[in-house]
This record gives sequence, C-alpha cells and structure tokens, in this order.
Amino acid sequence: MKRVLTFIFAAGMMISAASLMLTSCTKEGPQGASGAAGKDGTNGTNGKDQNATCTQCHNFSDSLVTKIYQYNASKHATGSTTFEGTRTACAPCHTSQGYVECLTTGADTTLAPVNDAAPINCRTCHQIHSTYTTMDWSLKANSTTAWSPRYDHSASIDLAFNGGSSNLCGRCHQPRLTSPWLDKPTSTTDSLKPTSSRWGPHYGIPGVMLAGKGAFATGSFGSSGHKDITSCSTCHQAKAQGALVGGHTLWMSDDVEGIKNNVGCKASGCHASLAANSFDVNGKQTEISDMIHTLKVKLAVAKMLDTNTMLLKTGKKYAQKQLAVFWNFKMAYYDKSEGVHNYLYTHDMLQNGIDYFTSMGY
Ligand code: HEC
Ligand code: HEC
Ligand code: HEC
Ligand code: HEC
Ligand code: HEC
Repeated sequence: MKRVLTFIFAAGMMISAASLMLTSCTKEGPQGASGAAGKDGTNGTNGKDQNATCTQCHNFSDSLVTKIYQYNASKHATGSTTFEGTRTACAPCHTSQGYVECLTTGADTTLAPVNDAAPINCRTCHQIHSTYTTMDWSLKANSTTAWSPRYDHSASIDLAFNGGSSNLCGRCHQPRLTSPWLDKPTSTTDSLKPTSSRWGPHYGIPGVMLAGKGAFATGSFGSSGHKDITSCSTCHQAKAQGALVGGHTLWMSDDVEGIKNNVGCKASGCHASLAANSFDVNGKQTEISDMIHTLKVKLAVAKMLDTNTMLLKTGKKYAQKQLAVFWNFKMAYYDKSEGVHNYLYTHDMLQNGIDYFTSMGY
C-alpha cells in the first residue's frame, strides 16, 4: 500500500511538471484534462487544477482505500483465470483489456491474443483516469446499454434497472457458444454426437438467468420479476461487512463467518421477514437445490454426466432434447444462486428435464 501511495504521489508530481512544461512551450495549449490549460505560463493554474482534480479521489479519506480493500477480496481479483487471455476467444471475459476492446468492437473475440493481460480491475468497469475527476466513476461507455447474447446475436438483453449496471456484468456472466448447436431442442428423435466433453454453456450465467433467457425452450418456462426490481448490485453490492461480503467484494455470503448478506433482499420492504443469514425465501432455495440434485442423479444414471468433472460423456449420440436438458441443467447448476436469480425460470427448466428423464425410465 505504502508503495502504491508513493507511486501515486510521484506520478502526480510528474503530471503536474509535464503540464507546466506544456504550458510554457505552447501558445495555445490544448484543453487539459482539468479543463484548465493556460494560454501562457503566467496564471499557473494548470498544474494546480490538475492536482486538485486528482484529490477528488486520491485524498486523505478512506473511501478509495475501502473500495480497493473490498475489491481485492473479490473473485475478480483473486481468481486465477486471467492467463486465459492469451486466447482471443477467452480474453473478452477473462482480461480487462479484452473486455474493454470488445465493448467497443462489439465482437465476441479480441483481434489478437492479450499478452501482458490485466485482471478485471477498477478500469474494466469504470472510466478511471479519463477526465481525472469523479466523473470517472461512471461505468464504461456501452456497459449500460442493451447487449446481444452470444448464443443469438439477433436477440437483445437489457437489464435496465438501476441505471443498467447489470448489463456490465451480464456481458461476461453469460453462456459461451458450443458446438454442435441445437436447432431442434424439443426433438426426441433427431440426435447429435458432441465431440467435446465441455459441450454446454461454460460456467456461471446469471446475466441471462436474471433476464429469463438462455435456456433451450424444451417447454414453456415462466420468469420471476427480479430483473425489473433489482440489479446485480442491489444484491451483490449491498452493504459491505468488512471485506467479507457486499460492496466491491461482490460476495453474497462468507462460509467461514457464516454470513449471508441479505440486506439487498430486505431492501424496499421486499422479503422483510426473511430470517437472518438466509436467502431461503419460503423454502424456494431448498426446493431448487433438491431439484438440481434430482436431475444431476438422473443425468448420471443415464450415463450422460460425469459427476466428478461435471462434464458431458462423449463418444455417443444424444437426442437433441437430451442435450437441451443437459444444457439447462448446467445453467441451473453453475448459476449457484439456487433459484434466487430467477426462481420460476430455474424451476420450470429443471422440472421439464426431470419429467423427461423420468419418462425415459431414469
Ligand atoms: C475517479 C477517481 C480518480 C481520480 C480523479 C484520479 N484517480 Fe488515480 N486512481 C484511481 C483509481 C481507482 C486507481 C486504481 C487503484 C487500484 O487499482 O488499486 C488509481 C490509481 C492511480 C495511480 C497508481 C497507478 C495506476 O495507474 O493504477 C496513480 C499514479 C494515479 N492514480 C494518479 C492519479 C493522478 C495524477 C490523478 C490526477 C491527474 C488521478 N490519479 C486522478 C482513481 C482516480
Ligand atoms: C470482464 C468480464 C466480467 C465482468 C464485467 C464481470 N465479471 Fe464477474 N467474473 C468474471 C470472471 C471471469 C470470473 C471468474 C474469475 C476467476 O475465477 O478467475 C468472475 C467471478 C465473479 C464472481 C464469483 C463467482 C464464483 O463462482 O466464485 C461473482 C460473484 C461475480 N463475478 C459477480 C459479478 C458482478 C456482480 C459483476 C458486475 C458488477 C461482474 N461480476 C462483472 C467476469 C466478469
Ligand atoms: C462470455 C464470457 C466468457 C468467455 C468467452 C469465456 N469465459 Fe471462462 N468464465 C467466464 C465466467 C463469468 C466465469 C466465472 C463463472 C462463475 O464462477 O460463476 C468463467 C470461469 C472459467 C473457468 C473456471 C474458473 C474456476 O474458478 O473454476 C475457467 C477454467 C474458464 N472460465 C476458462 C475459459 C476459457 C479457457 C475460455 C476460452 C476458451 C473461456 N473461459 C471463455 C466467462 C467466460
Ligand atoms: C466488475 C465491475 C466493477 C469493478 C471491477 C469495480 N467497480 Fe466500482 N462500481 C461498480 C458498479 C456496478 C458500481 C455502481 C453500484 C451501484 O449501482 O450501486 C460501482 C460503484 C463504485 C463507486 C461509487 C461510485 C459513485 O458514483 O459514487 C466507487 C467509488 C467505486 N465503484 C470504486 C471502485 C474502485 C476503486 C474499484 C477498483 C478497486 C472498482 N470500483 C472496481 C462496478 C465495478
Ligand atoms: C435478487 C438478488 C440477486 C440478484 C439481482 C443477483 N444475484 Fe447473483 N446471487 C444471489 C444469491 C443469493 C446468490 C447465492 C450466493 C451464496 O449463496 O453465497 C448469488 C450467486 C451468484 C454467483 C455465484 C457466486 C456466488 O457469489 O456465490 C454469481 C457469479 C452471481 N450471483 C452473479 C450475479 C450477476 C452477474 C447478477 C446480475 C446479472 C446477479 N448475480 C444478480 C443474489 C442475487
């Protein structure tokens, strides 16, 4: 920390020195970051003003320190997948540079591998050091507008509640494409033979789950209303408790301390009677967790799912509907909220899968 602060100070000095040089060398100085570029060296406001805007964030208060402290405990900071950025298909979600590039290009892959990758950090989500004022807390351009999910570029998802910040998260927390793709997900006769055991939606996909999208429609699925009354931040950034849960840790619970941060659930009078340290509204989380287990067992007995790796068993043909159920199961499983993101959607896709595998005798 000390090292960083010294660096910040040194950089501040360098920038003000640089801007003073700029002022004395040019007659008509460019509009500086602080908007205070002088016409001549006499007023001396340029360097001063720029420092003044730096202190909007870099100052003696703990506010920036607090956010960094929380962020450092998040999986974005502690996760180990940044190295995946050396592949253009992975960089958009696993590196900061890749994400920012694809926000601009709208592409699903980066133009080149991202070597020297930065992990997801303040700059990935915020404008940091763009205007050098507190305006830079605003989220990256495009991050609050609708996006088209990878599985269907003609569709559009807009998680607009609370200023649309969930669109920022959803762009990464969505399924990857997989091959072969299902064109008849309800067909019990047409079959396909995936060659990759990683066939499926990848890991967590709450960005589409919250929207009630992304599953293969093997039946008609309902959708709960969380999308229109909460954002990812409402729940995941609810009142922080140290660096364990909430705030920029993005954690909902801490197993060691036994904390479940349901401040967001109780906000605005919703779920006001929810017990302390619980997300189990009317037993629905328990219900979904049981259903996930039931379908997992069926998929294992049907010799489709390897329960050690949670991957698909390859080398044989599956009916498209079986694969659709498998995809939907993995969505529910890796969503990890046990129905909190979207109870009805999760419930209905699981029930449909359970019914189908039961009808097949599993
Ligand atoms: C909107 C708030 C904000 C303003 C205004 C701001 N900074 Fe920063 N600065 C940050 C954040 C956030 C970080 C990254 C902290 C981290 O990742 O640990 C940072 C990091 C730094 C660092 C460490 C190296 C780096 O780039 O990560 C330096 C040096 C720095 N800022 C200098 C400045 C200077 C000089 C100014 C004014 C010209 C300024 N900052 C204005 C928020 C701000
Ligand atoms: C640039 C893509 C990206 C963005 C934007 C992003 N995430 Fe993530 N998130 C990831 C990746 C990748 C991981 C896993 C990191 C690892 O394991 O190395 C992750 C991990 C997480 C985890 C921990 C998951 C677990 O299973 O432990 C949570 C919670 C989370 N993100 C929430 C959010 C929220 C909330 C937002 C928006 C405020 C958000 N993320 C924005 C890519 C992103
Ligand atoms: C659409 C965005 C996206 C793309 C593209 C993507 N990932 Fe991920 N990946 C994520 C997210 C988000 C997580 C974390 C999900 C969670 O934990 O809830 C993740 C998790 C992982 C994990 C598991 C980390 C753990 O903690 O277990 C691995 C490994 C991984 N990704 C590898 C890759 C590789 C390799 C590629 C490229 C071939 C890739 N990913 C492409 C979004 C993506
Ligand atoms: C994964 C995306 C993400 C990352 C990484 C991230 N933030 Fe944020 N941050 C958000 C979101 C989303 C909000 C808005 C929360 C809300 O809507 O209540 C926010 C809000 C803030 C605010 C309040 C802004 C305001 O307008 O008052 C500050 C300050 C802040 N973040 C600082 C940081 C710092 C410092 C870092 C790096 C250590 C950081 N953030 C990293 C997503 C992120
Ligand atoms: C209504 C509240 C709520 C909303 C809205 C919400 N989440 Fe969650 N989320 C949860 C709960 C509760 C869990 C389960 C966490 C636990 O048991 O620790 C969870 C779990 C997760 C996980 C698995 C890792 C973890 O923390 O256990 C990720 C990743 C995640 N959410 C990301 C998101 C993203 C991205 C969004 C927005 C698209 C979002 N969530 C919206 C409540 C919410």
